[in-house]
Amino acid sequence: MIPSNKPFFDDTEIEYATASIQSGNIAGDGPFGRKLENKLSDYLECKHALLVNSCTSAIEISLFALGIGPGDEVICPSFGFVSVANAILQCGAKPVFAEIDYETMNLDPAHTEKQITTRTRAIILIHYAGMSCDLVSFSELKEKHGLYLIEDAAQALGSKLQGKALGTFGDSGCFSLHETKNLTCGEGGIFVTNDDNIAQQAEIIREKGTNRSSFLRREVQKYTWVGRGSSYILSDILAAVALAQFEKIEPILSSRTKIAEFYQNAFAPYNYITPPTIPDGCKPNWHLFALRINKLHRDIFLEKLKSKGIGASFHFVPLHSAPYSKTKLKGGNVSLPVTDRVASELIRIPIYPQLSNAEKESVVSSMEEVAEELGLE
Ligand SMILES: Cc1ncc(COP(=O)(O)O)c(C=O)c1O
Repeated sequence: MIPSNKPFFDDTEIEYATASIQSGNIAGDGPFGRKLENKLSDYLECKHALLVNSCTSAIEISLFALGIGPGDEVICPSFGFVSVANAILQCGAKPVFAEIDYETMNLDPAHTEKQITTRTRAIILIHYAGMSCDLVSFSELKEKHGLYLIEDAAQALGSKLQGKALGTFGDSGCFSLHETKNLTCGEGGIFVTNDDNIAQQAEIIREKGTNRSSFLRREVQKYTWVGRGSSYILSDILAAVALAQFEKIEPILSSRTKIAEFYQNAFAPYNYITPPTIPDGCKPNWHLFALRINKLHRDIFLEKLKSKGIGASFHFVPLHSAPYSKTKLKGGNVSLPVTDRVASELIRIPIYPQLSNAEKESVVSSMEEVAEELGLE
């Protein structure tokens, strides 16, 4: 079986995790974590990078730090991971689903603007597959309507738009270090912001509502309860693993790019495949290779590829049509035809640095065999 994804580890992860365990300094905000946070803020060219235990936590922190709560509405895509909608519910606000653009599969600014009401406080963007949203239009919407912009960059660590890192355009950015992501420590995340006040709030929220981080920097003599918060910090053992991963970010990105180029060339002759669209000015991290095939054939492709040992999969069950939306969310049950279409056509095929030439060729030839059986060209 060729899986859809594989973490890219070597001995460094074991070495750093062992060093962390042996140091006895394994809670959050430890030496490995602080070193990685500094490296991340340099790499992303943003003022503050805070390690947290998941991207979901980073999104929750964003909403709490921005003061979003009951009575507020937050616009987000329905074509996305459930973390975004759940984080909005966690802070007592209402998720409002907007439509995506068919080509980029990212939130459509025009449809988003139509969902803005007097209650709207924020927009959460998802950079699907590491491809950038239309950040020029969303920055204009933010200014025009006085909204906060949060970037769910779970899939986008290492992606850039016009040379600037995705995740650093909005009021905050949220990255994932989950097992499936380009860099991983099993479960983990990164919260980033350029705003000192938001960073200060976020630091308190991630440390159970205390100023422990200030205490560790010797800014205060004791730490105490100073605000609302929860337990969102990343253990230093996992930060050590994440640091080892971060040191390999360039080879990881370049091997993913080579694989994506191989697939793009291999599929170019076929009309039955809609290849991924790279937005203008975007340099993606190729977190996923997501192509589209007519919905009449998509599930047959998934089934047949699986039987040939290829780990291909769909993405996502749209949130507006999920059982929880339908039964529990008033107004969650909207009509989003582009979202439904993308979700019915999408296929993700294996992409990860260790994928060999023979395996890449096997993915392509398996696709070609299925297409031939179905009479597609
Ligand atoms: C777009 C998106 N947002 C959020 C998440 C959640 O990330 P985590 O598992 O780190 O909480 C994921 C994870 O797959 C994701 O793809």
